Amino acid sequence: MFRNAILRPPSSSFSQGLTTADLGIPDLALAVEQHRAYCKALEQCCLTLTVLEPEPRYPDSTFIEDTAVLTSRSAILTNPGAPSRQGEVTSVGQLLGQHFSSIKTIQPPGTLDGGDICQAGDHFFIGISHRTNEDGARQLAAILEEEGYSTNLIDIRGIDMIHLKSGIAYLGDSRLILVAGMEKLGDFAGYEIVPVEVDEQYAANCVRINDYLLLAAGYPKLAARLSALGYKTIPLEMSEFQKMDGGLSCLSLRF
Ligand code: GLY
Repeated sequence: MFRNAILRPPSSSFSQGLTTADLGIPDLALAVEQHRAYCKALEQCCLTLTVLEPEPRYPDSTFIEDTAVLTSRSAILTNPGAPSRQGEVTSVGQLLGQHFSSIKTIQPPGTLDGGDICQAGDHFFIGISHRTNEDGARQLAAILEEEGYSTNLIDIRGIDMIHLKSGIAYLGDSRLILVAGMEKLGDFAGYEIVPVEVDEQYAANCVRINDYLLLAAGYPKLAARLSALGYKTIPLEMSEFQKMDGGLSCLSLRF
């Protein structure tokens, strides 16, 4: 059960963030509107929101999930793999200090982005990507295993994905969403796999929050599959965040 979320709306520098998508320049006003709709959806999921001020010094700071990994036992502050994003962590860490009695940190030379971490109950899949290096992944695995969680590392450097959670999401009930082709990258034994075809890959980054599932709008095959499985989905327009390589999970820290 999640109760809280921390978010940061996109700022005036949003379009200067990192991106590999070739989808054009984002419209800031529309991004702010889409972010507001996202906040409303989280409230529908019964979360209490803390919305931070926009932070123009850090164009990618709306993708706040990358700054921390939150468990029921601690907050682990990351060291984002993109140098332009490393300054995002300080203010989030200060806020998390008000909510968590145990704060840990990923130390350089380890790097780690929250978008590479997928929690599935008491298990964590940890992506090794062009953002999260092996050192960072192993530091996190050690912290989580000390807290009693199991972990396994999934190397996604050979596929065209920014973060692990660009292709995987945990739905609860031992079910995983997985983009076609990813099943060979890790050990997913014991999970029922809900496959996502490559043409709907963006929609794989969905977020289960309490009784609802946030889903990017415009991906009818996955939406139909999830409805048939009985999930109550909340479709959200994400066009402006997609232009900046961001997905639904990136826009909040949930705990
Ligand atoms: N634009 C999000 C990221 O690349 O980190």
